[in-house]
Amino acid sequence: MIDTDALCSQVPGMTAPVELRWLHDHAASSPAAVVEVGCSAGRSTIALALGARTTGKTVYAVDPFNGGGATPDPPGNYINQGASFKPFWANLCRFGVQDTVTPIGDYSELAAKKYPGDRIGLLFIDADHTYRYVRMDVDIWGRFLVPGGILALHDSGYPGVRQVINELGSGYADKEELPIFHARKV
Ligand SMILES: C[S@@+](CC[C@H](N)C(=O)[O-])C[C@H]1O[C@@H](n2cnc3c(N)ncnc32)[C@H](O)[C@@H]1O
Repeated sequence: MIDTDALCSQVPGMTAPVELRWLHDHAASSPAAVVEVGCSAGRSTIALALGARTTGKTVYAVDPFNGGGATPDPPGNYINQGASFKPFWANLCRFGVQDTVTPIGDYSELAAKKYPGDRIGLLFIDADHTYRYVRMDVDIWGRFLVPGGILALHDSGYPGVRQVINELGSGYADKEELPIFHARKV
């Protein structure tokens, strides 16, 4: 069950109720782990976790938790989570989903090196929206998707996100735009 009104009123974020419900429902039906790249205050993480816990799946939450902003070049190695980890975790606790979520507090590229390698059933990318990083996120994390697993990209109107969508080749099928762009790994 997800109460999107409660989630939107209590946790800051830009993800809309219809998108949160979609994330919740697809996390609930995910055949394997769920990975979110770009979590901010945890609004979408909570939606994913409320769905994933119905089948005992884990949500891996990837973010440097440094309060947002562009990715430094090169990305720093965040051994410890940054300053916005505490409010993120407090929000998860408020919604009782902390046992479902495993945070990986680092930039995507470095977080992937710490990832235990679980196969992914739903991959939600909502991090740095510039082409270079969206491309990298899809390449790095997409290889863990099970056949039939779902790749979802938030903010598909951003030029960098759109370019990556346009480049998705025959490795992804059943592309749909709404409410969040998504495609199935072949
Ligand atoms: C748009 S916010 C995410 C919003 C969140 N998905 C929600 O719906 O509430 C973008 C997040 O991406 C994170 N981010 C930026 N660059 C990143 C990177 N290279 N790897 C992982 N996370 C990154 C930022 O720290 C920020 O928290």
